Amino acid sequence: MTKIQDILEKKKRGQKITMLTAYDFPTASLVDRAGVDIVLVGDSLANVMLGLESTREVGMTEMIHHAKAARKGVKNALFVGDMPYASYRTPEEAVANARRFVREAGCEAVKLEWFEDCPAVTEAIVQAGIPVMGHVGLLPQTADAFKVQGKDADSARQIIRQSSQLEEKGCFSLVLECVPDKVAGLVTKNLSIPTIGIGAGPDCDGQVLVIHDVLGLYPRVKPKFVKTFAELGQAAVQAVQQFRAEVEAGSFPDKEHSYGMDENEFRRLQSGEPS
Ligand code: KIV
Repeated sequence: MTKIQDILEKKKRGQKITMLTAYDFPTASLVDRAGVDIVLVGDSLANVMLGLESTREVGMTEMIHHAKAARKGVKNALFVGDMPYASYRTPEEAVANARRFVREAGCEAVKLEWFEDCPAVTEAIVQAGIPVMGHVGLLPQTADAFKVQGKDADSARQIIRQSSQLEEKGCFSLVLECVPDKVAGLVTKNLSIPTIGIGAGPDCDGQVLVIHDVLGLYPRVKPKFVKTFAELGQAAVQAVQQFRAEVEAGSFPDKEHSYGMDENEFRRLQSGEPS
């Protein structure tokens, strides 16, 4: 079982950390079996599972429902729940909802996106005994548009400042989304907690992607940072086309996929003989 301490030690040893999203039992199970360090039930659930436009459209009900299912598939990875936008605006509400992730869905940590009161909220959750993963750079819950963050010195300094504040308040790791590789490199050097990048270049301590992007299951224009490692979406369409063709041609199901019956019993059935 991967623990927070194992994630911290990986940074110290210079070993890369892997994290992928999963939102259900079979996907979480395959990510876990592949030996990924952290499974994140991301609020990207809104886009890739529910077909919604914005992560703001999911709440605690959806997140807990999916986290419970994903939990069943995770045996070794650290299991992290992503707090939806409306669930952590005040420290009290944040602690209550973080506890729900732990108690109802078996999460071992929660993730929060940066906002003005993020340091206070982080501190409150950490004090309640729940480990927190921060998230700075591009913030899908509040961003107006998809845009690389920290491209000029002032905005880069702001990201560096936010990262340090979150470390001070007790975050055990930090997602850096869509920032120039040089800025991510500086943040990573600056912090003793691990950084996990998505669109933040190779110098982060670890990398995260959305599983649907990795497997080619989400038909969208892909940001530059996405690498699709298998085209399972295309393979799935071909499989479904084959199913349709075989049913329409009468070649499925064949004998191999049907159940037989004893000939005598069948004769008795047809003749109306009682058993
Ligand atoms: O919701 C999500 O999937 C995320 C990761 C991409 C970091 O926040």
